[in-house]
Amino acid sequence: MKRLVGKSALITGSARGIGRGFAAAYIREGATVAIADINLAAAQATAAELGAGAYAVQLDVTDQASIDAGIAAVVAQAGKLDILINNAALFDAAETVDITRASYDRLYAVNVAGTLFTMQAAAKQMIKQGHGGKIINMASQAGRRGEPLVLVYCSTKAAVISMTQSAGLNLIKHGINVNAIAPGVVDGDHWEHVDSMFAKLEGKEPGQKKAEVAAGVPAGRFATPDDLTGMAVFLASSESNYILSQTYNVDGGQWMS
Ligand SMILES: NC(=O)c1ccc[n+]([C@@H]2O[C@H](COP(=O)([O-])OP(=O)(O)OC[C@H]3O[C@@H](n4cnc5c(N)ncnc54)[C@H](O)[C@@H]3O)[C@@H](O)[C@H]2O)c1
Repeated sequence: MKRLVGKSALITGSARGIGRGFAAAYIREGATVAIADINLAAAQATAAELGAGAYAVQLDVTDQASIDAGIAAVVAQAGKLDILINNAALFDAAETVDITRASYDRLYAVNVAGTLFTMQAAAKQMIKQGHGGKIINMASQAGRRGEPLVLVYCSTKAAVISMTQSAGLNLIKHGINVNAIAPGVVDGDHWEHVDSMFAKLEGKEPGQKKAEVAAGVPAGRFATPDDLTGMAVFLASSESNYILSQTYNVDGGQWMS
């Protein structure tokens, strides 16, 4: 039985990668999905590939007017908003002594403020509708502990875990469940970028960091976006109505909590 029939979802940063995988899974489960991305052309291409049930929306999570317009576009297209996945995020890596304010500001604007204010706008819409809703924030194993070269990104993901706890406690009175998913390492463009950054910072060959990291995953490999979709569908479905403020590790055994 399909679990998201008739639901309207908005997924930020879903033109590619994990968000795109979530969108495909939600459509398979019967939902209508806004492929919301800062890159409209990529969102349009993805929506066309995913077919019926998908449509593109331009949404920059660092811009309040863009967030509000994105939510309005979902309501105009689907009549309502039932599910938000706060998936858009940026990564950076540097020696602690080399971190720049520009990098800090950029990552906090997208990963922290973007998550908070998209969550807020979605919650306002869900409260207005009066039927509750589901909000899923993308955390990371990076939010569970620091990494020597990844101070800023790790701290943004720790903030996502904390915001998920507080927002979940606050919004459940409206029937809105807020939870998070903490992936480990997931294959795709994001990790190609991470690998190339580590190649420079640690003097490694291209692909070497990825191979080392994969060998250290208890499950023995990187995840694919499809490895995460079961949790994303569960947290968007009525099966999770009594669950709030949690962050679930879907990481091949990397972290236990
Ligand atoms: N890939 C991994 O190994 C991994 C591991 C743990 C957590 N995560 C988290 O999962 C989520 C998705 O990761 P991914 O690997 O698919 O990333 P990705 O870099 O492949 O895709 C991110 C998408 O976000 C969009 N985006 C960037 N800035 C935006 C903005 N301001 N507004 C709207 N959209 C914007 C990009 O255009 C892109 O389509 C992120 O939150 C990431 O931190 C990823």
